[in-house]
Amino acid sequence: MHVFVAGSTGVLGRRVVPALVAAGHRVTALTRRAEAAAGLRAQGVAVAFADVYDREALIRVVTEAGPDVVMHQLTDLSTADLAANARMRDVGTRNLVDAARAAGVRRIVAQSIAWAYEAGEDPADETTPLDDAATGPRRGTVDGVIALERAASELPEWVVLRYGLFYGPGTWFAVDGIKAADARALRLPVGRDVSSFVHVDDAAAAAVAALDWPSGVVNVVDDEPATADEWVPAFARAVGASSAGAVHAPHAHWARGADNHFARKHLNWTPAHLSWRSGFDTI
Ligand SMILES: NC(=O)c1ccc[n+]([C@@H]2O[C@H](COP(=O)([O-])OP(=O)(O)OC[C@H]3O[C@@H](n4cnc5c(N)ncnc54)[C@H](OP(=O)(O)O)[C@@H]3O)[C@@H](O)[C@H]2O)c1
Repeated sequence: MHVFVAGSTGVLGRRVVPALVAAGHRVTALTRRAEAAAGLRAQGVAVAFADVYDREALIRVVTEAGPDVVMHQLTDLSTADLAANARMRDVGTRNLVDAARAAGVRRIVAQSIAWAYEAGEDPADETTPLDDAATGPRRGTVDGVIALERAASELPEWVVLRYGLFYGPGTWFAVDGIKAADARALRLPVGRDVSSFVHVDDAAAAAVAALDWPSGVVNVVDDEPATADEWVPAFARAVGASSAGAVHAPHAHWARGADNHFARKHLNWTPAHLSWRSGFDTI
């Protein structure tokens, strides 16, 4: 297949591009940055230059490439600006889907998140509604997710990957990542909030596998949703910090984690890193 990867140089794209090439796919990699081109071309892929907010340029480069599949791994998180990232999910996805349609592309694989579900006690599965009652800054995140997923589902074939929190080299949850700095400064609160993690290598493998998955949303998370009371001390240890003295956060009921049974049972997807508990040793 010929895959157009938007977000080719991000933490996931850097893993997805070589994995696609190794699996025998042809790749066109999108970037805005001329300095990224040589490294991409050295991997045997074609490079397309455009900013996703430049709608006409994006339509032009996707049409020129003429791919079978568009892969959406775009985020705008380099400055941890959640509003910028919500805009990327909304406007960036709109433009990418419109470019795919203009180019006659039938299939999209898009990156979403597994923590936009409505409040509840148990880990959410894919039938759980998104959190339409969200307020405050979370409202912007949920609206961005809704916009991204709706736009992706306009193509005849679409797979939305609702990822857990990425951990592993190059992510925020790495020895040199911003969450490690937070841990060292005791800024990671403990408490009953539940998160689901996924090793970033497993996240990349799922994106490649999703080229053949049926249309729909899929939770891509590890086997062990965990409270901050459980995972914060383990993460702190892994990055050489202490969690003694960490503040307690009040429980947000939407922080419930996510369930991967659908991917395991129906898509034959199994994470290589079954749990953050052992996976944090790899960061
Ligand atoms: N589920 C999760 O937990 C999750 C998901 C995503 C990210 N994160 C965290 O966020 C951190 C940063 O993410 P990241 O490495 O993916 O970095 P990023 O700086 O958010 O960039 C991601 C990709 O999007 C592209 N991009 C951004 N804006 C663009 C635009 N206007 N037009 C075209 N392309 C654009 C970038 O391409 P160019 O710069 O080459 O143009 C890059 O390939 C990670 O370390 C990770 O921990 C977490």
